[in-house]
Amino acid sequence: MQPVNDQTLAQLAQEHGTPLWVYDAATIRARVAQLAQFDTVRFAQKANSNIHLLTLMREAGVHVDAVSLGEIERALQAGFTPAQTHGAAGLVFTCDLFDRATLARVAAAKIEVNCGSVDMLRQLGPVSPGHRVWLRINPGYGHGHSNKTNTGGENSKHGIWHAELPEALAVIRAHGLHLVGLHMHIGSGVDYSHLETVCGTMVDLVKNMGHDIEAISTGGGLSVPYREGEQPVDTDHYFQLWDAARKQIEAHLGHPVHLEIEPGRFLVADAGLLVAEVRATKQMGGNHFTLLDTGFNELMRPAMYGSYHEMSVIAHDGRALDTQHATVVGGPLCESGDVFTQRDGGVVETRLLPAAQVGDYVVFEGAGAYGASMSSNYNSRPHAAEYLVDGAQSRLIRRRQTVAELIALEQL
Ligand code: LLP
Repeated sequence: MQPVNDQTLAQLAQEHGTPLWVYDAATIRARVAQLAQFDTVRFAQKANSNIHLLTLMREAGVHVDAVSLGEIERALQAGFTPAQTHGAAGLVFTCDLFDRATLARVAAAKIEVNCGSVDMLRQLGPVSPGHRVWLRINPGYGHGHSNKTNTGGENSKHGIWHAELPEALAVIRAHGLHLVGLHMHIGSGVDYSHLETVCGTMVDLVKNMGHDIEAISTGGGLSVPYREGEQPVDTDHYFQLWDAARKQIEAHLGHPVHLEIEPGRFLVADAGLLVAEVRATKQMGGNHFTLLDTGFNELMRPAMYGSYHEMSVIAHDGRALDTQHATVVGGPLCESGDVFTQRDGGVVETRLLPAAQVGDYVVFEGAGAYGASMSSNYNSRPHAAEYLVDGAQSRLIRRRQTVAELIALEQL
């Protein structure tokens, strides 16, 4: 499952220091190719918004989604344009609200907007009549690998509540906005019988809305295997369910309908690794602790959701590795929750791993999505460097932040 071999990782860690994010371009291109049946693959860059990876995506024919002004500027720098390319806008802004700066930017640059609230339509209409919009619908139920990634139902802030669709359409008509399509993203993680329900809801919504559309978007949420033995998503089956829904919608509307998919994790998760160095080990009663020079300031998913990431160990001295039960923790953060081996709810676990010593490297797999993009400067830890493995084009794609840069904004 590890896309880059140990020898390369050890060399990169020595050259660029740790913690270090390492991505494999070939894996990303292979994931893009798996979704070729969809008319448009739109990358949800919240999963990983490094400009070099965005450029790679664009060159592979992928379109992009942005959820903030920062993500819009990243997309533009990576060469995406708001214009229609291959039947869909190169860049779409998806959110549940407009902050004032983003509203101004979106209106001026004519960036298509996927609106998650009726207030967004009310604010966009007067400043940009005729603007192209999508409606993100909350169908009244959701699904997620954790409660924190369920984006549908009454407890979620996301999307326009399904019963408010007529009101949204009234605002669209009143302001002469141009409705491109309906979008539904109800969470991360795939369950096919649940997906059939989602597709059915999309068909029913379109049949009952009394307004024409050009496109539908499935949102993202395609799962990836984080643990050995977990099955990868069946992208053909996924496409077939949505294609059948699209065909029913086409029959109802009497013209072709464009089918978009908007994955984040699927395109980048297993292309990314986080390499950290073991800097201390401790025996605490019956517990053996392995302390790394990284923490949840880099990889937040275990602390936030109890997410599981496979780990491997690279011996610094080439010795053969025994196994040992260990609790793997971040060393640098002053937080007892800074534990990489934990379940949802903060239950600390041990894991049977190769016995790591100070100076060895620990490699986290499946770290390409929601890794670097969710990093913080907590405890004034500078952002780690990012490296892309891409044959002769292999290179650093983000240098390590310095402490001077980190504190510069306060030098007033
Ligand atoms: N589209 C929309 C509107 C979304 O809100 C999301 C994710 C996606 C697409 C992409 O979902 P994906 O294909 O990556 O599952 N930080 C969490 C995931 C939060 C997802 C938020 N929205 C994690 O680390 O699992």
